[in-house]
Amino acid sequence: MTVLVTGGAGFIGANFVLEWLAGSDETVVNIDKLSYAGNLKSLATVLHDPRHVFAQTDIIDSAAVRKLMDLHRPRAIVHFAAESHVDRSILGPDDFVSTNVVGTFHLLEEARRYHAAAADAERRDFRFINVSTDEVYGSLAPDDAPFSETHPYRPNSPYSASKAAADHLARSFFHTYGLPVITTNCSNNYGPLQFPEKLIPLMILNALRGASLPIYGDGLNVRDWLYVADHCAAIRLVLKHGRPGETYNIGGDAQLANINLVEKLCELLDELAPNPAIAAHKQLISYVPDRPGHDRRYAIDSSKIRRELGWQPSETFSSGLRRTVSWYLQNQDWIADIESGDYRHWIEANYGNRARQR
Ligand code: NAD
Ligand code: TYD
Repeated sequence: MTVLVTGGAGFIGANFVLEWLAGSDETVVNIDKLSYAGNLKSLATVLHDPRHVFAQTDIIDSAAVRKLMDLHRPRAIVHFAAESHVDRSILGPDDFVSTNVVGTFHLLEEARRYHAAAADAERRDFRFINVSTDEVYGSLAPDDAPFSETHPYRPNSPYSASKAAADHLARSFFHTYGLPVITTNCSNNYGPLQFPEKLIPLMILNALRGASLPIYGDGLNVRDWLYVADHCAAIRLVLKHGRPGETYNIGGDAQLANINLVEKLCELLDELAPNPAIAAHKQLISYVPDRPGHDRRYAIDSSKIRRELGWQPSETFSSGLRRTVSWYLQNQDWIADIESGDYRHWIEANYGNRARQR
């Protein structure tokens, strides 16, 4: 048996592939175009594992995807590949439409063709897991109930709009063609292997260098943090027991304002990586101009996946954050690799401009 994963060299995809191969003998075909966010170093321990077939392929390339599917006959597709960073979508939305909307559409088309031509048993068991985000639901006010699966879609950034479009296409392929699609909408992930453009790894790396910790706006935007291994466990459950045509919200039950999160992180770094040059890492916190259209609050109601599939997160935010910081401290070579190349240009494009605005 084989599963096909897209975006398996990115943050969540790589965690998923590594955990999959640690817990099962089933082959993973991993399709990733290796954008700036794709990193084969994250997969170093499985690159020569015969159960891991890596193909540097763009999901938009239907012919290449078709060839891989016909060759490996996957029983499921777990679709992670995406442009995933809101700030990048603000500076340049084109790639988001191309990969998230058109790429997902091409992948769905290939899945439809494959599914329609499959033998009865293969067709019955096939699944297409569309990994999406809570950001498609838009922004919550402080007292609003968390997002449930029936919350209306109100995306506010080019990123979330492109993911919403992909979700709508995925939904339509279930209803129109009977493709067994299941969509998952999860909250902000954190953990090992996350590219340091996102809040938590960016703050860890900056703090370790003694650089400033840039908080957008008033720092009171709230996110609901989910440890990546808990997310991967949820996806495995959805793959096994989820009902085609359904959506499942996945959240870590850990709502925090950004400033509170960064303060917690600073305290942890004071303990795990004290810097003799500064009394406390909190001194590095600096407020910078806000992200345009910055969603105020996300929060997930995961009662459906808990009730129907028996999922629950195994990490609290404190235990997950400690694991995450420890991982970054122990993997300096992974960090050094990332810090060359495109990453430097990104820091100048996103934060240089903010500094000039002040
Ligand atoms: P990531 O940016 O770290 O990785 C994305 C991966 O997709 C990279 O390896 C990249 O090379 C690959 N990719 C990009 N365009 C591609 C294309 N056209 N063809 C093939 N591969 C391509 O993203 P992530 O954080 O791992 O997120 C994975 C999925 O989870 C995404 O769909 C994202 O929208 C969703 N998600 C992420 C979070 C989060 O907090 N990270 C939260 C909710 C949902
Ligand atoms: P991010 O990790 O980019 O995820 P998302 O935008 O998908 O939620 O950002 C998480 C929160 O942290 C978000 O409210 C924006 C904020 N943020 C900062 O305050 N400073 C930063 O440098 C970054 C990258 C994010």
